Amino acid sequence: MAKVVLTNLTKRWGDFVGVDNQSLEIHDKEFLVLLGPSGCGKTTTMRMIAGLEDPTAGEIRIGDRVVNDALPKDRDIAMVFQNYGLYPHMTIYDNIAYPLKVRGTPKPEIEPRVQKAAEQVELTEFLHRKPKALSGGQRQRVALARAIVRHPQVFLMDEPLSNLDAKLRVSMRAELKHLSHMLQVTTVYVTHDQIEAMTLADRVAVMKNGRIQQLGTPDEIYNDPANLFVAGFIGSPAMNLIEGRIENGVFVTQGGFAVTKVEAPNRSGLVLGVRPEDLTIVEPGTGDFDVPVYAFENTGESVQITGQFNRQRVIAKGDRYLKREIEEMTGMSVDQKHLYLFDQSSGERIRN
Ligand SMILES: Nc1ncnc2c1ncn2[C@@H]1O[C@H](COP(=O)(O)OP(=O)(O)OP(=O)(O)O)[C@@H](O)[C@H]1O
Ligand SMILES: [Mg+2]
Repeated sequence: MAKVVLTNLTKRWGDFVGVDNQSLEIHDKEFLVLLGPSGCGKTTTMRMIAGLEDPTAGEIRIGDRVVNDALPKDRDIAMVFQNYGLYPHMTIYDNIAYPLKVRGTPKPEIEPRVQKAAEQVELTEFLHRKPKALSGGQRQRVALARAIVRHPQVFLMDEPLSNLDAKLRVSMRAELKHLSHMLQVTTVYVTHDQIEAMTLADRVAVMKNGRIQQLGTPDEIYNDPANLFVAGFIGSPAMNLIEGRIENGVFVTQGGFAVTKVEAPNRSGLVLGVRPEDLTIVEPGTGDFDVPVYAFENTGESVQITGQFNRQRVIAKGDRYLKREIEEMTGMSVDQKHLYLFDQSSGERIRN
């Protein structure tokens, strides 16, 4: 078991900065998720930890050892990739046994370890098959088994569920969660799927342009976002972000639309953040503001109502039995305890 410590880690190609002077301590046995949009530097960070990419600057420690100069095979890590990377001509048994064989594990030790790993991912009955005779989810479990059979100090997983269909992803997510709880191995997991990040992580590092924007528990990044980027990135539907100013205790949009009371001094150049679930749908005239309904969507489990005021749209989530017609007026009421204010130009959170 080991912690992973990145210090001032940087990766540049010419003038382009892929990972920008990042420091991050991943605790022993922690499940840490790197989350961010495409191109933000997640895979590059992961590949530097794995030793597949040389950092331009900075230090990587695994356990007590600086591994910058260690070969990938000497870093005691196991990787799981998006495309599984299975050997098509080998049976599932041989695929799982492969990393042990190449490391010269004594033969009598291999069989029980493969059996145990196969059991942990529920593949025992498929060991004699070839990968092409398995479903996508089963193949992904082979890739996981091949990683866990090694008993590495660290797992590195790069979008391991992204080739699976939506339903399988959800069930594999739960399996991964269970497995990581049982194994207790330090894991760095890369995804651009925020639900995966929220559900799997002990802590999430939200990245943008090669830099960590916020590092925190799922609860912290959801309920206490550090800036506009994190606020807008986490949550589906996304947090409503309304531009405007505070005038005598009221948040007013540029078009003069009064949204809600805010206990803060007068100030302009602001963005008000409200999550859709913190906007309650009420009868017109009884909430903080009234808007015409732009769209009404029923997701089965809840309804989403999009309202529109001076070219700005707001989404509220409501009880599944609620009904509204398009163009009908609806009231919306803001939960005062869950409002966020940001500086419009810097994106920084304003706390009062
Ligand atoms: N070998 C390379 N040479 C130049 N630029 C590169 C190289 N590899 C990656 N990059 C750039 O570095 C940035 C970060 O890439 P990276 O693969 O880490 O992104 P990512 O966060 O994993 O994105 P995705 O979610 O799309 O996988 C991207 O803009 C990418 O184009
Ligand atoms: Mg990537």
